[in-house]
Amino acid sequence: MRFKDKVCVLTGGCSDMGIIVAEKFLKEGAKVVLVDISEELFEKMDEYKAEYGDNYRFFLGSVCNYDEMEKAMEFTAKEFGTVDILVNMAGMGGRGKIEEMTLESWNNAIAVTLTGTYHACRAAVPYMKEKKYGRIINVSSIGGRSNRPVNVAYAASKAGVNGFSRGLAIELAPWNITVNTVAPGPLNGGMFTKGAKDPNYVPSPEMIKARQMLESTVAMGRLGEMSEIANGILYLADDEAGWTTGEILDINGGALMI
Ligand SMILES: NC(=O)c1ccc[n+]([C@@H]2O[C@H](COP(=O)([O-])OP(=O)(O)OC[C@H]3O[C@@H](n4cnc5c(N)ncnc54)[C@H](O)[C@@H]3O)[C@@H](O)[C@H]2O)c1
Repeated sequence: MRFKDKVCVLTGGCSDMGIIVAEKFLKEGAKVVLVDISEELFEKMDEYKAEYGDNYRFFLGSVCNYDEMEKAMEFTAKEFGTVDILVNMAGMGGRGKIEEMTLESWNNAIAVTLTGTYHACRAAVPYMKEKKYGRIINVSSIGGRSNRPVNVAYAASKAGVNGFSRGLAIELAPWNITVNTVAPGPLNGGMFTKGAKDPNYVPSPEMIKARQMLESTVAMGRLGEMSEIANGILYLADDEAGWTTGEILDINGGALMI
């Protein structure tokens, strides 16, 4: 078991990606705290209750609020003793092209994706410094890294996460704390998997077109699976990646190349 008794905090933990990451950590012996903003989303973990219920907890809190992130880390330390690994997945895009984008929409994207990452890291770092050990993995996106036609607030906040992570990696290296970024390409999640459990589900022509358009931007010709991103996150969280820091791990089926 690669992560036996390691304690992980996952922000945006109830996202499609968060659930897969949580499951993989739990299978490898970790204790996990999922931080998210909606109690309803916690139901997504129901199928893991019987097997792993003692090894995970939920914390209802927003990454936009520093006090709540401090409380999330205190809660984690109280329940499981410490914080070893932090994975930041809470993210939000803006709405519309620049002339239509409201300041509120811009500010929300920056507040959740960039400032939220800063809040969670700031709250977790004292626990890691205390024992001279830590792994921080921040999830950005190909949208913060390439010239793809993406929403500018999303692009700016994700590029910000890349820069933030590199700066923090240098700052925390003397404490044996690594900080890396995983930058996924377009994934098979959200609207593409909504009807997956319904045998009668038929995707709309618009959905099929949107999927084909995205697939055409990927050298490997398909969308990525959440588990393929989770594998990268677990690699960076592993003790064996102890000399990898300040890196951006691009996982995108070759989409950055074309
Ligand atoms: N799905 C993709 O194609 C894709 C591609 C590249 C990068 N990503 C990134 O990967 C991560 C996970 O992706 P996903 O598609 O599963 O995410 P998603 O958009 O479905 O979920 C984001 C999660 O963040 C939570 N969240 C939102 N605001 C929050 C707040 N203030 N505090 C705490 N939690 C909050 C949401 O409740 C949700 O669980 C995100 O950061 C996303 O930007 C996704």
